[in-house]
Amino acid sequence: MLVLGIESSCDETGIALYDSEKGLLAHQLHSQVELHALYGGVVPELASRDHIQRVIPLIRATCKQANIELNQIDGIAYTKGPGLMGALLTGSSVARSLAFALNIPAIGVHHMEGHLLAPMLEEKKPEFPFICLLISGGHSMIIRVDGIGQYKLLGDTLDDAAGEAFDKTAKLLDLGYPGGPKVSNLALEGVTGRYKFPRPMTDRPGLDMSFSGLKTFTLNTWQKAVKENDATEQTKADICRAFELAVAETLTIKCKRALEQESINTLVVSGGVSANREVRAKLDALMAKRKGKAFYPRLEFCTDNGAMIAYAGTQRLLAGKAEELSFAAKPRWSLEELEAI
Ligand code: KG4
Ligand code: ZN
Repeated sequence: MLVLGIESSCDETGIALYDSEKGLLAHQLHSQVELHALYGGVVPELASRDHIQRVIPLIRATCKQANIELNQIDGIAYTKGPGLMGALLTGSSVARSLAFALNIPAIGVHHMEGHLLAPMLEEKKPEFPFICLLISGGHSMIIRVDGIGQYKLLGDTLDDAAGEAFDKTAKLLDLGYPGGPKVSNLALEGVTGRYKFPRPMTDRPGLDMSFSGLKTFTLNTWQKAVKENDATEQTKADICRAFELAVAETLTIKCKRALEQESINTLVVSGGVSANREVRAKLDALMAKRKGKAFYPRLEFCTDNGAMIAYAGTQRLLAGKAEELSFAAKPRWSLEELEAI
């Protein structure tokens, strides 16, 4: 089965062609980073307008890259939610109209299921059951995964998501947008140990997380440095180093607990923050110690992309889960509402 995937939930238009037998044939991405950088974050209305302009040329480019004609496609998968309403509606309406015109089935995919299954696009795939640490700009979740659509939420963030904390920290330090890669790059020049940030919610049992305190800690540390005439690039780098280490170690402590609690030794890490060097290093060290294994998407599939939507949609279409012609975007959508296949 050959499936066209369309991702448009936030600030990236991602298109891909996935073949259930041959694997990923082609994928294209347009990032709106430059468009939103001026405003220091995503402007929803600008995002929708840009998706409208990009989606059809990108579909054409992806088909050309794979040497595929539209009439060879067997199904269309699009991001139905969660995400920005206008952005979701753009992808959904293009997907639905194209499916109607081609007389093929279409399916709305849960964006976070796309992230969760992204490591399945790699040659070495994780086997069920596994624990998934899903860390993106909008979510930080620890999930027990027993199969596709069999998701049990074990832990969630009580406030900011891990990616959001990176983005807000970058903003406080005037590093620009998106914050994750900026903080991470500057952290490389930071001195380990100059500042010690807390490991939030690790001193009590449970798998829930909270990252907003780290952002406040950054603010206080920086304001103190300003007062003491120490507001230098080196100080910023040292703060980034301490912040990144705190996030990575907190996530690692929570994952260790989840693996122990569920007696599972396979960890899947996905979503934008799974691209982070320090997070990967700490989680790899944990899994090596446990003689287990951590699986990640390739770097370009950690953040939003069409390939993960095409993959997740293919699995559901293969199980006969196509939907009616009408569609509705779901800006808020819990993973646990999904049907098992
Ligand atoms: O998964 P994603 O593309 O979008 C959502 O579904 O939210 O994740 C984007 C988030 C942003 O907050 C971004 O700052 C963060 O992932 N991110 C990173 C890195 N690359 C992206 N955070 C830390 N380190 C990185 N290298
Ligand atoms: Zn995402």
